[in-house]
Amino acid sequence: MLYLTCVLIFIAGVMAHGGIVSYNIDGKEYIGNPYHLGEMIGNGNPYSPLINTPDITIPSIQRPYYWYPIEDYTSPNMTCNYNGISNAPSFHAPVPAGGTVHAFWKSEGHPNSTFPYYMDWRHAHGPILAYLARCPSDSCANFEAKGNVWFKIAQVGLEPTATNMQAGDSWTQTYLNGWRDREEGWRVQIPKGLKNGAYLIRHEILMLAGNPAQSYPNCAQIMVTDGGDKQPKGEELVAFPGEYKVTGKSRTMVWK
Ligand SMILES: *[C@@H]1O[C@H](CO)[C@@H](O)[C@H](O)[C@H]1NC(C)=O
Ligand SMILES: *[C@@H]1O[C@H](CO)[C@@H](O)[C@H](O)[C@H]1NC(C)=O
Repeated sequence: MLYLTCVLIFIAGVMAHGGIVSYNIDGKEYIGNPYHLGEMIGNGNPYSPLINTPDITIPSIQRPYYWYPIEDYTSPNMTCNYNGISNAPSFHAPVPAGGTVHAFWKSEGHPNSTFPYYMDWRHAHGPILAYLARCPSDSCANFEAKGNVWFKIAQVGLEPTATNMQAGDSWTQTYLNGWRDREEGWRVQIPKGLKNGAYLIRHEILMLAGNPAQSYPNCAQIMVTDGGDKQPKGEELVAFPGEYKVTGKSRTMVWK
């Protein structure tokens, strides 16, 4: 098991909000949940609540989410954001074990922008993580994913060449928008041989350059096919909320 300790960097007034706006899963595009996307992309003042009435009848693989950061790691919103329950016409994106989930993040739109317009992901400092939780039936709808159900499948943090944690380009998060000819977004491989079935995939960006650090979780429903008999061991499972312990005056944040 891997333990990472991050000493937070104190930078006042860091403000930007966002989340995953679309996925490419096994070569197919899926738009993010429309519940808050309309609001996030602006079309007025992006800081006003619900300017665009959310149309929750649009089917989505993604759980509804709010684009505000979560700063209370004990909040139930840590699971899948904004209470995180699927909206009624939810469905699952099929992906073979060993296949790819490619996620794309954006921040809220410029106040005077028109649809579809997003800002690039505005943060740089902190890791990007991906977890899976197996849903108890052949559907993830209404599965709340509380308790020790999550196992990590991928993470990126500092660049191999990084020498200064505070430098903006030291973290892979910096490159999410295709900066310096990098591919846009982040690709995660579903483990080869994973047991078939319905899973939630939970991506999370941690933004460490603030006090407190900000969490941006997003969940989507996938259906794993062509798998094997691989399943996580009990000690590999973690809970959201529950996984992050913030200790001491230096606000050291510890997670598996
Ligand atoms: C969950 O997030 C929503 C949207 O930001 C917020 O209104 C609500 O108060 C949060 N719930 C808790 C328990 O923090
Ligand atoms: C948006 O447009 C209005 C009207 O043109 C202008 O007064 C305002 O300054 C603009 N806001 C921003 C943030 O650019």
